[in-house]
Amino acid sequence: MRMWTKLAIAGAMLVPFAGGVALAEAEPDEAIKYRKAVMQAIGGHTKASAAIITGKAGTAEDLKKHAPALYMSAMTALEAFRQNTHGQGAEKTTATEAIWTDWAGFEGKMENLVVAARNLASAAEAGNAGGEQLKALGGTCKACHDDYRTK
Ligand code: HEC
Repeated sequence: MRMWTKLAIAGAMLVPFAGGVALAEAEPDEAIKYRKAVMQAIGGHTKASAAIITGKAGTAEDLKKHAPALYMSAMTALEAFRQNTHGQGAEKTTATEAIWTDWAGFEGKMENLVVAARNLASAAEAGNAGGEQLKALGGTCKACHDDYRTK
């Protein structure tokens, strides 16, 4: 019993630290690498989904996995950009300062991506995903890249 009480107290004490770690700023280069990795995951699942929908490779069963994976990745993307790295770090980046000076605009465009990815995932699960969902998804990438990335 005493052992468990001690463990419970130790556990409770760890909670604030866990929160502190999550809120800490990452090294600028690491923050840039991380958000690029998230975008590459989104890019990979988008390409794989497109290959399946256009009948080039893969199967409808595979799409039932790629589309939710894309949706899950998209849900992490906004937070991946929260840290303002403008003018910091040596890692190559195409992110523009507008992301942080117009965070609400950026957030809105990210929300559009999440919605489009969710729609694709639902359609894939129902077995009727097609060009319509793919086009809508692609539109959300372009809308954000046009405004918040260097050409
Ligand atoms: C709300 C904004 C936003 C949306 C929506 C968005 N992106 Fe991005 N994406 C960015 C930004 C900003 C970068 C640049 C990141 C950097 O270089 O630090 C980027 C970078 C990328 C990269 C390059 C990563 C690298 O290694 O340099 C790929 C690939 C990519 N996005 C794919 C996509 C695809 C595919 C979609 C749509 C399914 C999408 N993105 C939707 C903002 C967005």
